[in-house]
Amino acid sequence: MQISKRAASVSSSLTLSINAKAKKLKKEGRRIINFSAGEPDFETPEFVKRAAIKAIEENFTRYTPVGGTEELIQTIVEKFKQDNGLHYTPSQIVVGNGAKQIIYNALQVVCNPGDEVIIPIPYWVSYPEQVRLAGAVPVYISLEFEKELKIDQEELKRAIHPEKTKAIILNTPHNPTGGVFTRGELEKIARVIEPYPILVISDEIYEKFVYETPHVSFASLGDTIKGKTLTVNGVSKTYSMTGWRIGYAGGPEKIIQAMIRLQSHSTSCASSISQKAALAALDESNEKIKRLIKEFDHRRKIIKDGLKKIKGVKVNKPQGAFYIFPDFTNFLGIVYDKGQIRNSIDLASYLLEEAGVATVPGSAFGLEGHLRISYAVSLGDIKEGLKKIRSALDKLRS
Ligand SMILES: Cc1ncc(COP(=O)(O)O)c(C=O)c1O
Repeated sequence: MQISKRAASVSSSLTLSINAKAKKLKKEGRRIINFSAGEPDFETPEFVKRAAIKAIEENFTRYTPVGGTEELIQTIVEKFKQDNGLHYTPSQIVVGNGAKQIIYNALQVVCNPGDEVIIPIPYWVSYPEQVRLAGAVPVYISLEFEKELKIDQEELKRAIHPEKTKAIILNTPHNPTGGVFTRGELEKIARVIEPYPILVISDEIYEKFVYETPHVSFASLGDTIKGKTLTVNGVSKTYSMTGWRIGYAGGPEKIIQAMIRLQSHSTSCASSISQKAALAALDESNEKIKRLIKEFDHRRKIIKDGLKKIKGVKVNKPQGAFYIFPDFTNFLGIVYDKGQIRNSIDLASYLLEEAGVATVPGSAFGLEGHLRISYAVSLGDIKEGLKKIRSALDKLRS
């Protein structure tokens, strides 16, 4: 039996081999510091867990409306209004099984075979695969990220092919670089896009993780832009709820309703229990989140300064999310006793074996020579991990 061309076109995760290696080493008793996590290291808050337990006890355990419960949708309407200055009606909101499914559904409803979707590089690993699964073709543009996120307007203009371009995916705060778009940069992008019938999928899942540059929702730039934008968010990162699988979006009613129809034949509603938990999380004031952000900010400074002290590593300025994406190209090509560091996968493997430190190779995000380092780990681990990376890289150079 053969698998379909569609399934065959999906590449297996580049990060899997590193993860498998990390697990094997751990099993062998090695201490591994895991800088590869894509989720906060905190537990889901107690009040959220209690809301879920209450939902079970009260038998809130059946199908809900496909696009989400009325009360959760209303809370999301309020959330967009308060946090993002966005006014959506309930029929412009959809709740799904994580932001990942929301983006998948959006691409499914706007792309026909052969259409194009613009993706800035580096990108979150799932974007190109989801575009291909929608039968479309990713068109890459470069993203500058050393200080803040920047897209070259001319390059963006050249990437738009009016007959074919159906969407562009923007992500701020950004995975993997930790970059954040300023309002000015978003306005420049908006000016280029405005004349075209393109859907802007604005992935704002890390919105609360900003430390210097405030988060700006793309859709808040004006009514025309709002009419072209799907604002994607979720509870995974902000409330340490990655396993609960609740994501949501606000956007043009036609797109949202098509996404709901599609979802009605794939997963139906998101878990009723998780929807109650998400409702409790979103109802909570932003005060609790502020403490968490302060902790991440502290770690961000420690990791950035620590990496800066390592000779040969070029460090970008992470402004948001919980990632930093330094440039290690100075180490590519080095031959050592066990082989050669040809690319970011080799470097990540070397750091894992030599230093017991797990990172994600830049090639997973479309950019060689970099490693993604997540600071969603304890301060103690950050300090120990930095020391280990430093001595492993010193050894390579000697
Ligand atoms: C940029 C980005 N978007 C979306 C997601 C998916 O989040 P969710 O857990 O809501 O599916 C992630 C998770 O890693 C992410 O990094």
